[in-house]
Amino acid sequence: MLSWDEYDEPAEMSAPKTAAAAPQQAPAEPTPAVVAEQALNQLNKEIQTEIQQEAQAEVAAPAAKAEPAKPAASNKELSKVEAAKEAINNIDVAPGLEELEMGARRVEVDEKAMINCRADLNQLVPMKYDWAWQKYLDGCANHWMPQEVNMTADISLWKSKDGLSDDERRIIMRSLGYFSTADSLVANNLVLALYRVITNPECRQYILRQAFEEAIHTHAYQYCIESLGMDEGEVFNMYREVPSVANKAAWSISHTAGISSPTFQTGTPETDQELLRNLIGFYAVTEGIFFYCGFTQILSMGRRNKMTGVAEQFQYILRDESMHLNFGIDVINQIKLENPHLWSAEFQEEATQMILEGTELEIAYARDTMPRGVLGMNAAMMEEYLQFIANRRLAQLGLKEQYAGAKNPFPWMSEIMDLRKEKNFFETRVIEYQTGGALTWD
Ligand SMILES: [Fe+2]
Ligand SMILES: [Fe+2]
Repeated sequence: MLSWDEYDEPAEMSAPKTAAAAPQQAPAEPTPAVVAEQALNQLNKEIQTEIQQEAQAEVAAPAAKAEPAKPAASNKELSKVEAAKEAINNIDVAPGLEELEMGARRVEVDEKAMINCRADLNQLVPMKYDWAWQKYLDGCANHWMPQEVNMTADISLWKSKDGLSDDERRIIMRSLGYFSTADSLVANNLVLALYRVITNPECRQYILRQAFEEAIHTHAYQYCIESLGMDEGEVFNMYREVPSVANKAAWSISHTAGISSPTFQTGTPETDQELLRNLIGFYAVTEGIFFYCGFTQILSMGRRNKMTGVAEQFQYILRDESMHLNFGIDVINQIKLENPHLWSAEFQEEATQMILEGTELEIAYARDTMPRGVLGMNAAMMEEYLQFIANRRLAQLGLKEQYAGAKNPFPWMSEIMDLRKEKNFFETRVIEYQTGGALTWD
């Protein structure tokens, strides 16, 4: 073991000690007269230097006035500009997500495809899927904002002691609890997962419109919650605290996980089917089944002249959601058409199972939100309605109906959803939108 006693001091460490201890040949000490002479000589040198510097400054001054020297900051700016020019000269035309293939052939409509398309995705035209573009135009034409809806009657009814039954309050709370976060889940799926893998510009255009509509829906639910003075923490946390709400949210989230990884790519039968699972999970089930119990309950309330502001918000949202659903069904069917090998018998079984799982979750939600009959409906009626809806979703996807003989106990819902019958839908609107004409350049 080493000890400090055994430690050998390195030679360089001992050297100064030796030098300090015994300066063998120190120079002779100068006499005071010599020191004084040296100091005077040094002083003279300094004075001469100072005089020369002043003279040089005087000569340089007129030139400096005629052409002021650029401050250090300007020189810095110049080098930044030069750096920018340099960067532009060396620009890489194929950076990032999508390559810009210089001089490539122009896009032809036949090259366009829903998935795995090689044609330039930044060129909206020539269009291939007119239905997608039309839905984008229809979505824009239906634009609305939550603040346009008058909530005054709702606020006084919600705050009154006997205006609403406990069961009616439960329905309102549960609806806002589910929807206040559900539309965020849908929006996340659109912008963080789906947009990347749908390789068609007109469909992407609609997806962007839909994403904004989902933001408006979340805004609408927040607006209702705030107007009614509800406990925001309680409502927004319901998807993590109330089992019938949480189960639906968890089911949706489980169907975004597969394609939301930044490294996910379509292109194999397995990954293409994973994308189809996502589309079915979100468009056919989340937006096509999970929204229907809550919508029906709130709209039924509105038909009874209760919570008319909330019901009107839901009515606008339902109209948007009907279009989202139809867009999703069209996308799925188009992918099937272009890639028939994906729609195998086995995969059809799986798709059917997904629809049935969604239906069962929504039936459980109906039972939880309606322990008794309320608003002219009950859980059994809602169950049949959801089975009717599920049959419809299955048929829209070309799958066999699973609930034989299920009928629609709420035909008025179909009327509300059929927008062409809602000629006076916008009569209650109170805000005129500003258009480009209202802008000035001053
Ligand atoms: Fe929505
Ligand atoms: Fe939606």
